[in-house]
Amino acid sequence: MTDIYQNKHATIEERVADLLSRMTIEEKIGQLTQLPASVEGNTEKLEEWHIGSYLHCTGDTAIRLQERAAKTRLGIPLIFGIDAIHGHCFDNDATVFPTQLAASSSWDRELIRDMAKVTAKEVRATGIHWTFSPVLCVGRDARWGRINETYGEDAWLIGEMAVEAIKGYQGERFSSPDSILACAKHYVAYGETVGGRDAYEADVSRRKLKALFLPPFKKAVQEAHVASLMAGYHANDGVPCTADKWLLTDVAKTDWGLDGFIVTDWENVTSLYTKQKVSASIEEACYRALVSGNDMMMSTVEFYETAVRLVKDGRVDEAVVNDAVIRILTKKFALGLFDDMRFYCPDRHEVLGIPAHRDLALQASLKSIVMLKNDGILPLTPSKDLRVLVTGPNADDVIAQLGDWSFGSMQAGATDDQFHRDKTVTTLQAFQAAAKHYGFQVEYVKGADCLDEEFEQVAELDRALENADVVIACVGDTLAQNGEFHDRANLDLTGKQQALLERIKAAGVPLIVNLVASKPMTIPWIAEHANALLCGFNSGTQGGEAIKRVVFGEYNPSGKLTISFPYHVGQLPVFYNKYEGWHAQHSQHTEFKERYIDMPEQPLFCFGEGLSFSQFEYRDIALKQRVIEPHSDIELSLTVTNQSDIDGTDIVQVYFNDHFSSVTTPIKTLCGFQRVAIAAKESVEVTMTVKFSDLALVNAELEEVVEAGAFSLMVGASSKDEDLHTLDFEVTQTTTVSS
Ligand code: NOJ
Repeated sequence: MTDIYQNKHATIEERVADLLSRMTIEEKIGQLTQLPASVEGNTEKLEEWHIGSYLHCTGDTAIRLQERAAKTRLGIPLIFGIDAIHGHCFDNDATVFPTQLAASSSWDRELIRDMAKVTAKEVRATGIHWTFSPVLCVGRDARWGRINETYGEDAWLIGEMAVEAIKGYQGERFSSPDSILACAKHYVAYGETVGGRDAYEADVSRRKLKALFLPPFKKAVQEAHVASLMAGYHANDGVPCTADKWLLTDVAKTDWGLDGFIVTDWENVTSLYTKQKVSASIEEACYRALVSGNDMMMSTVEFYETAVRLVKDGRVDEAVVNDAVIRILTKKFALGLFDDMRFYCPDRHEVLGIPAHRDLALQASLKSIVMLKNDGILPLTPSKDLRVLVTGPNADDVIAQLGDWSFGSMQAGATDDQFHRDKTVTTLQAFQAAAKHYGFQVEYVKGADCLDEEFEQVAELDRALENADVVIACVGDTLAQNGEFHDRANLDLTGKQQALLERIKAAGVPLIVNLVASKPMTIPWIAEHANALLCGFNSGTQGGEAIKRVVFGEYNPSGKLTISFPYHVGQLPVFYNKYEGWHAQHSQHTEFKERYIDMPEQPLFCFGEGLSFSQFEYRDIALKQRVIEPHSDIELSLTVTNQSDIDGTDIVQVYFNDHFSSVTTPIKTLCGFQRVAIAAKESVEVTMTVKFSDLALVNAELEEVVEAGAFSLMVGASSKDEDLHTLDFEVTQTTTVSS
């Protein structure tokens, strides 16, 4: 007779309970242990330590390990995790999308979901079941090396996008071939570490956590049922995430009802002892990690033997271990790993990088482009006598274009820029193809490098400038300048990039800048002197083609920034939803109005900003009710007209401000948006709903409440005051949204 746990007609609860009852303590601790397959010696431990999970498996390693796991006493399948961050980027056949920061500029829920769906299919087809994505960190300091991994600076928008990404990854049923587990990370406030330093301490109170950093994770758990969370490396207000029982157990599991599991980040447990020193031995570190609520320990080799001892010595109650094992096994059963999906491995060429997926990557690149300046030079007319000079370090650099978490990044262990090369269209390649198609002339001189201080090919550059009608300069940063522990203190263009731009300007040739970068950079010179500025950040394999289409007007750009660009690194932090300073506009001493003495108050480019070839006009903005009763959502309508001769898409944004409240609140907070496609000369009526609960603040007692009184809604095309139309309304009663 088959054991219950092997009977696929039994419920998952019955199967888990049966299996748990058969497991030794060693087998249980093994389920909690995750090791990198890429580190020597780790795969040999599979049978001896009853390993439950490996990460960073590429090629056929996963299938080979799964075959070995099937032969163990209970045959418990492995679960494999990978950093498929913007596509299954560590597999050379896979589709590489724009990074999270880039794709967030699309403000396109459906696109974010579709990208995740494609990623899920491609990951699952390589025998892997779980991606460490999406990143829900709030990106408020551009010096941070990992800012490219975020959906930008607004927590509400991050939550909206996270829900789509998670639903896309996880699909309808975990046991289907297009579903994988998602992992919301890094729990929590990892983007807020002081000075933009990666994995340093975040000086954030519990009130601020509840008000700003926890909400995207709460949405991920409650609205998208995310299967896992990853505890960040860092400490919040002195408590490392991995040692924070309040954060892991009380908030995520008890209050929110997380039914998935929590994995630590890399070596978090060891670090409690060796780096953060809140535990005086590895035993104490393992003890603290277990009782705080971590379910799976990533890459802490000491964990297995230490944890077995802790349970056998009676220091850790076996019930704590059982809870973690149940959470992990539940997901393994749900994934079908005990059944038909154990060795699921279709012909990879029928799934990875197929034309439909590549088309979606192109759509993503197009929708991600933000046009930040256009003095009228764009779109260019591709006439036969046009002479285009393409220049700059990132005109033909696959690694710079794709960015972090693709080949070349340290986790991939490869530096060869031939990876993904055959699928990547750089700006140079796209312009060369366009030149053939339209019959114009294109020349390429690299001119400068991001890292090298030498000015390259000056003579060639000067000669090419003499023969050019327009220059496309692709500047920004490269992989060595971003990612984990690659923070920057300076956000200026490096190498001789600035000198290159100034030389072009001096030659008097019209200048179009294409910013290929992992982050906002301090580029006031470009904003002032370039004729046009396009930004696609790390725009994926189709990024060059997308830029070319915008330049020649084959595509009307619609992207808007989800992160502000500072004038100068010293202006950071510069996020839009700031708190009004004491010296703000209402001060009677107007000469002391909130300002820097040596810098503009506003960012160079603001959150929500982005141009189109069309011009849009907003009118008839109206609220259905001006007096809002508890729990009633706010309904808003407006008409947007495309006054131009070309079809376009605008992104309507809605912000709110709470006039008087028991604690300070931001000057404006995003609470709604809609992409609106409008044909030339047409108008579209837009209706939008703002959720009552989104008006909540977290009071001094840590309760989420909407306080009675006056509010404003601000509606418009960006977060800039001059783009917004304001309407006031009143909330009748203070209402607790959740405690
Ligand atoms: C460390 C990173 O912080 C995390 O984002 C990643 O998922 C893990 N390593 C695994 O690579």
